[in-house]
Amino acid sequence: MKVLITGGAGFIGSTVASKCVDAGIDVVILDNLLTGRAEFAHRFPFYCGDIADDKLLDKIFTDHPDIGATVHCAALIVVGDSVSSPARYYENNVSKSLALVSSVLRNGCGRFVFSSSAAVYAPGEGGCVDESSPIEPQSPYAHSKAQFETMLDDIVAATDLSAISLRYFNPVGADPELRSGTPSAHPTHALGKLFESYSTGTPFKVTGTDWPTRDGSGVRDYVHVWDLADAHVRALQRFDRITADSSGMTVVNLGSGRGTTVWELVRTFENVLGEDIDVVVADRRTGDTAGAYASNDRALRLLGWVPTFTLEQGIEDTARWLAVRSHLLNSVSPNVTLSGRRRG
Ligand SMILES: NC(=O)c1ccc[n+]([C@@H]2O[C@H](COP(=O)([O-])OP(=O)(O)OC[C@H]3O[C@@H](n4cnc5c(N)ncnc54)[C@H](O)[C@@H]3O)[C@@H](O)[C@H]2O)c1
Repeated sequence: MKVLITGGAGFIGSTVASKCVDAGIDVVILDNLLTGRAEFAHRFPFYCGDIADDKLLDKIFTDHPDIGATVHCAALIVVGDSVSSPARYYENNVSKSLALVSSVLRNGCGRFVFSSSAAVYAPGEGGCVDESSPIEPQSPYAHSKAQFETMLDDIVAATDLSAISLRYFNPVGADPELRSGTPSAHPTHALGKLFESYSTGTPFKVTGTDWPTRDGSGVRDYVHVWDLADAHVRALQRFDRITADSSGMTVVNLGSGRGTTVWELVRTFENVLGEDIDVVVADRRTGDTAGAYASNDRALRLLGWVPTFTLEQGIEDTARWLAVRSHLLNSVSPNVTLSGRRRG
């Protein structure tokens, strides 16, 4: 099988690409390098361009008529940016994704796997969510994911397209072989902020300690990106069986199945890195929620998927990646070692 991965120069797309190749699935990458890295994409047949460029899509399918599926990871992903630039997010994540669907359909490629997000769910109380939990996006980014899912569902009902939407929870870690990781040296999520505090000595802020959770801090579900990549390979291998009887898009949660509070994340981080972190307590941020963790029952039933990596391994692989990132990407990374001591 050969698969087109959009956003394959990004964090998740590049990891999925490596896992596919390891599993014997050929990969073609399409990415405009807006946030992605050419270093990740150049290991594969790579087309630098936009998902909405229909001529480029036609060329890709002419060059690779054996592409049997598309994994659509390309997107803008920073929630805060989506609040200040909503139109940009809707254009990129919704309008351009629709153009991509037209292109893959025009080229007779009917298998579509979409990178969705747990951000589409209604704010919870720190509990478990399954695929039928209420949808209530809280940001333009989350809306863009939910809106494209709705469109995809309607398109699947009316055309030859079949689709699986994978709702990721909070991806962490890196390819264990360190072929890729986060393109940015400063990821904006809690683990990224912890690494920033670790390397700069600035205090880590626990934002909100009055949530209705076991210790008052927010709950997240950290899933290792290599586990996520494995789920994509399984979705591709079982695609026809999974989608055979469905009249619409099939939705699958991908999380660790375990909720971790921010305080628990801090303690685990300190244990893995072997150093205490300065922590300050701050007010809730606008738009934050108590969080949630995934029910993975459907992923087990449809994909035979069970996450195998622990949070400790996710933190460790992130640290290993940040330590080599600057050599591989030729730019500045935070100082990170696994010995518990800072470099430099
Ligand atoms: N990282 C997370 O925490 C997370 C959580 C849930 C869901 N997701 C979803 O996973 C997917 C991948 O996220 P990521 O963390 O790898 O982000 P990323 O920014 O590392 O990768 C996105 C890639 O898409 C490319 N891209 C963006 N717009 C494009 C366009 N119009 N044409 C071509 N390429 C384009 C970028 O250059 C980048 O390489 C996204 O769809 C995101 O919404 C991510």
